[in-house]
Amino acid sequence: MTQILILLHVLGAAVWVGGHVVLTLVVLPRARRANDPRVVQDFEQGYEPLAMPALLVQIATGIWLAVRAKPESVAWSDLTAFPVSHIALKLLLLFGIFGLAVHAKLRVLPQLEAGGIDVYAKHAWAVTVLSLGLVVVGVGLSTGGFF
Ligand code: HEM
Repeated sequence: MTQILILLHVLGAAVWVGGHVVLTLVVLPRARRANDPRVVQDFEQGYEPLAMPALLVQIATGIWLAVRAKPESVAWSDLTAFPVSHIALKLLLLFGIFGLAVHAKLRVLPQLEAGGIDVYAKHAWAVTVLSLGLVVVGVGLSTGGFF
């Protein structure tokens, strides 16, 4: 069961992180060169139906893996002890992504056509960096911890 959860978690990570890396390093520079926000909108329309289910898979498998990974001897309230320390950091990074995603949906995307590509780019970079942070902390969780 743990192997299936980890497999789904790694596949979800590949879709989520891979898509955001392509967005920031390929799609955004192209949209900027063409000065055409439709390049971003086209990518978003194709990627979003993959990205949202991938994020849901990450949350479901992540929480399940976290509950299985925590030994009885460590209390959830002990935020300095491994693995709770890493799980708490994962949740913090996830809440950061949620906040940015809601702000993008309500504020940034509606203003994209009116020259909001710079604000959108900052958002996309922030989500990508937080998502890479989730990968680093995740590898820490599966290898005994980075701190
Ligand atoms: C976009 C969101 C996320 C991404 C990209 C991500 C990515 C990863 C990656 C790449 C690994 C390493 C897999 C391995 O080495 O086997 C991992 C492991 C892990 N992640 Fe996540 N993760 C995300 C969200 C979450 C969430 C929300 C939680 C729960 C709080 C979580 C809990 C875990 C746990 C417990 C492990 C260790 C699994 C093991 O025992 O090997 N992840 N994550």
